[in-house]
Amino acid sequence: MKYLVLERRLKRLREVLEKRQKDLIVFADNVKNEHNFSAIVRTCDAVGVLYLYYFHEEGKNAKINEGITQGAHKWLFIERVEDKLSKLKELKEKGFQIIATWISKDSVDFRSVDYTKPTVIVVGNELQGVSPEVAEFADKRIVIPMFGMVQSLNVSVATGVILYEAQRQRFEKGMYDKPSLSKEEIEKILEKWAYEDIIRERKRTQVKA
Ligand SMILES: C[S@@+](CC[C@H](N)C(=O)[O-])C[C@H]1O[C@@H](n2cnc3c(N)ncnc32)[C@H](O)[C@@H]1O
Repeated sequence: MKYLVLERRLKRLREVLEKRQKDLIVFADNVKNEHNFSAIVRTCDAVGVLYLYYFHEEGKNAKINEGITQGAHKWLFIERVEDKLSKLKELKEKGFQIIATWISKDSVDFRSVDYTKPTVIVVGNELQGVSPEVAEFADKRIVIPMFGMVQSLNVSVATGVILYEAQRQRFEKGMYDKPSLSKEEIEKILEKWAYEDIIRERKRTQVKA
């Protein structure tokens, strides 16, 4: 397959894809703030998350703040889900453990989870948190211990803390040393990314008549 992007750009895209963890998914349950959502996107890219699903109670598409994502949103699949329980059920049936953040003394420490298993991490709304039905459906409810005066972290910060624990575990297990995507999957995504990249580049350099 011949690509129109520069060889070194292609190499970079391939390297990133080879580190993507297709079985580490983030699910944002009604995260509404554009800045928070965009910061989550950026962390997902850094850790190697490929799929970010989200539910919005008003059915709105997430707004991306490019100043915050710094382009990270171009390198993941971000998909809005209409029926969150059906989506989570589908993922559970595919073998994913569903891990919901839940600020309660009955939740387990987020570090006690084995994130090297196929995992969906669910983070919640800025005010209400994860919805009770999702927490109920989850295999585990996790909390990041808090020792200060304030009860919770900002959602994007909490997502980062959990994702970096997942990254640490996966890194130690050598899961970034070999691709989780198949060769065919890598080629398919590469083709899409390279095409979109060139279209964006053309738009950027187009001279207005
Ligand atoms: C500001 S918090 C929501 C607070 C809400 N009152 C609650 O009890 O969940 C927004 C989201 O950030 C994440 N979060 C914040 N602090 C957390 C913590 N200490 N442990 C786990 N998740 C946390 C969760 O995903 C939560 O749904």
